[in-house]
Amino acid sequence: MSLKDLQAIIDSGTKLTPMMDQYFQIKKNYPDTLLLFRMGDFYEVFFEDAKTAARLLNITLTHRGKIGDTPIPMAGIPHHAASVYIDRITNRGLKVAICEQIEDPKDAVGIVKRGVTQVVSPGMPFDLEKTQGHDHRYMASAFKKDNCYYLVALDFTTGDFNGYKHENFESFIEGLRMLAPREFVTFMGQWDGDEGKDVESILNHYDVLKTHLSEEYFNPKFTDLYIEKVIPGFKRDKIIKLDELILNPIGALAYYVCSTQLLESFIHIRPFKMNSQANIMKVTLPTLVGLEILPKSRESYKDSLLGFFDKTETAMGARYLRSLFANPLFNQDSISERLDIISALTDDDSLIKDLRVELSKIRDIERILAKISMSKGSASDLLNLATAVNAYTEILKNVKNLPIKAVLAPAEIKKLSVLAESIKATLNDEVGASLEKGNLIKEGVDKSRDRLAKLHLNVAEELMKMETRLKDETGIQKLRIKSNNVSGFFIEISKGSATKVPKSFERRQTLVNAERYTTPELVQLEKETITAQTKLEKLEREIFKGLINNVSDLNHSVLTMSEHIAFIDSFQGLASIALSEGFTRPKFHSDKQILNIKQGFHPLIKSLIKDQFVCHDLNLDEKTYFGLITGPNMAGKTTVMREVAIIQLLAQIGSFVPAKSADLSLCDFLFSRLGASDDILKGQSTFMVEMAETAEILRHASSKSLIILDEVGRGTSTYDGLSIAWGLVEHFIEQTKALTLFATHYHELIEVVENYSTAKNLTVETVNHNGNVQFLYRLIEKPASQSFGIYVAKLAGLPASVLKRSEEILHLLEKNHHNPMEGHQLTVKAVKDNQNTQLCFLDDIVIDAEIPAHLLHLEEEISKLDVMKMTPIDALLKLNDLKKHLELQ
Ligand SMILES: Nc1ncnc2c1ncn2[C@@H]1O[C@H](COP(=O)(O)OP(=O)(O)OP(=O)(O)O)[C@@H](O)[C@H]1O
Ligand SMILES: [Mg+2]
Repeated sequence: MSLKDLQAIIDSGTKLTPMMDQYFQIKKNYPDTLLLFRMGDFYEVFFEDAKTAARLLNITLTHRGKIGDTPIPMAGIPHHAASVYIDRITNRGLKVAICEQIEDPKDAVGIVKRGVTQVVSPGMPFDLEKTQGHDHRYMASAFKKDNCYYLVALDFTTGDFNGYKHENFESFIEGLRMLAPREFVTFMGQWDGDEGKDVESILNHYDVLKTHLSEEYFNPKFTDLYIEKVIPGFKRDKIIKLDELILNPIGALAYYVCSTQLLESFIHIRPFKMNSQANIMKVTLPTLVGLEILPKSRESYKDSLLGFFDKTETAMGARYLRSLFANPLFNQDSISERLDIISALTDDDSLIKDLRVELSKIRDIERILAKISMSKGSASDLLNLATAVNAYTEILKNVKNLPIKAVLAPAEIKKLSVLAESIKATLNDEVGASLEKGNLIKEGVDKSRDRLAKLHLNVAEELMKMETRLKDETGIQKLRIKSNNVSGFFIEISKGSATKVPKSFERRQTLVNAERYTTPELVQLEKETITAQTKLEKLEREIFKGLINNVSDLNHSVLTMSEHIAFIDSFQGLASIALSEGFTRPKFHSDKQILNIKQGFHPLIKSLIKDQFVCHDLNLDEKTYFGLITGPNMAGKTTVMREVAIIQLLAQIGSFVPAKSADLSLCDFLFSRLGASDDILKGQSTFMVEMAETAEILRHASSKSLIILDEVGRGTSTYDGLSIAWGLVEHFIEQTKALTLFATHYHELIEVVENYSTAKNLTVETVNHNGNVQFLYRLIEKPASQSFGIYVAKLAGLPASVLKRSEEILHLLEKNHHNPMEGHQLTVKAVKDNQNTQLCFLDDIVIDAEIPAHLLHLEEEISKLDVMKMTPIDALLKLNDLKKHLELQ
């Protein structure tokens, strides 16, 4: 039953129960969410929501009551396990509204008051503990005006808040892809025609949850109240004043956040930062994914280069490292500053060790602050924060002599330390300490709390003490303090001692042999005891709240500290990897075009195969800036190209690079087209994506760029592909004049390149020993002589019949090769006619099926040998064995 149907039933005069009426009134305001309605220890879901929840969560669908004659579908989830269920629903792209009881049921007159306290969505998870540390979860919003695209992104879980202005649609789309937001706030009709389709396909591709607001929310006149909440004092912000249109998407996003998170303030949201593209080397998302720097999907982080480089100890550091990779610098001074830090760190590896020890103590401060902001901060969060502050002060001592800028004034650091001390001095860090047990606050912090705690825990002892004192004071040895459920606490004195009872005792009850009295002191003790537990809990909560407020007051310092930790952590990480993998400091030349790498290597492959990796030397400069790499399949062409791009990118991040030496120029744009990427944008074919990306390179590349192209034109017919590749080579050499590496299997291009003095042929060395190709992987300044494609196909296990036939066809094709026109006329008939003629271009290649079994056995035996572990005698004996085995055949 939909909300509309329900409304119709109500309009027709059917009465709802008060509880259902309350549900309906609340649900009306949250039509596009799944509403969890708190009922005691359960969250209950009704009507259509119940069916959806039952299906998504695999829970029972039952009924609660009826509306008219129709039973109301209901499903329930226990409150204590809610986070698991809620995350499962939001991971499916739905929003969940959490409706709580907002008054104590004991105080309720009639039905308990309820209200929605939080809307959980992919960008605003319920349980921050479970969100991936190294990843951002952005919510984005955008606004277009006069061909300018204003994009804002807020990570509500860490407080990261950024704005971007893009001057054209292409750059805006690139920005959006780079952010990979979880949610996008927009209004209908904002994008027209093709732009709409592109935005839509990106959002669909990344499974982004869209929220449509009406257009007025994109007008800051109507949203300034909300903006003020996320950017306090925004009207005085000079950067925002420079381009006030950024307020349009900020307003919409601010409204969205404020309407879904019912909080007084958002202490964890960082000051809004407008990002400029000026000092950034541009690098596109396909480049980063093609280089395997950024993971293809969120799950494969560990296998990506970013995962490999991530030697950070904190979640903030890991997130910052990612932003370093996505925003390499185009400013030599800033790069040098970073390189200086890494140099200083690599000079002193014990310093790195010390830093890592301290950093490892630090938890995700940004998410702690987000939890505090959402009133979900726990005592252990505060204790973790205190530990982080203490570790930070140690870190500051460690980095004192490094060229790292201070970000907090000593007075601010002092305040943080005082806060940390008071947290440590106040909160009990023993396991089992909790507000409910009344032992969260340490003894000695607050006198009233201690008295209450004592009363609560030691009522008997208190009474005993009072009894002894009263006995002494009155001289009545049989005086007893007792209690029961009816009369509470009382002093019981036998009738015989009645004369000694002081006047201050008030008679309560007369029994046969005894009288019962009370005193103001006892009344007080009783009252305190009975209410001690509630009072204790309340007082402890107040003290805890006080600490939370102290943290909130220092939120800016905490955020700045966290940013500084992220910075230091990511640089110690870069220094660690530089040391462990043998990287060097790159040298930049501002006055010339240069890419001179000695003994460069691909960091990930080298770390896997160690010394078996063959390092590369490469030299391009302003005289010869174009390198055409030809060479057989599997020879290592793509690896060299990836390696070069990685070296340039790392250098412009301000990191050391995988090489013995690297002389580089500052590049404005790094383009690389490696591998097929039809999955990046749905709805475009592999070849279409390849051409679109190549077109983008041609539009944006300048002589200051670095261009890495792998087998462009491969995805279409041979002659089309060759023509495109040929045209591109000429264009890059004659027009673009950027440092370029172009790998291809079109050997026709070797001759093209030979005609230019500014270009050279390169190949990755291979040798052919009697049909067995050996890959040497060395990069040399020579053109390739052969392709060995069929040989590689054989290695890969293609059946012998196919291999044989391929060789025949290849031979025919090669015969026609020198005259392209003839090549065109090579018909299927001609190829058919030549079937079964023995035309082996690689005569020496023996097809698997023809290798006799005993030779295969021999091959297997030899390949099993670990020669390095054999003595000469072992070797001779083994050789003898093998020989005997052969003789037996
Ligand atoms: N320098 C090297 N040292 C050792 N092994 C290497 C080296 N370069 C590449 N390899 C190995 O060779 C494999 C193939 O390399 P790569 O993909 O770069 O070849 P390719 O020439 O691009 O082949 P194709 O033409 O089929 O694309 C790599 O996966 C790696 O295992
Ligand atoms: Mg390749």
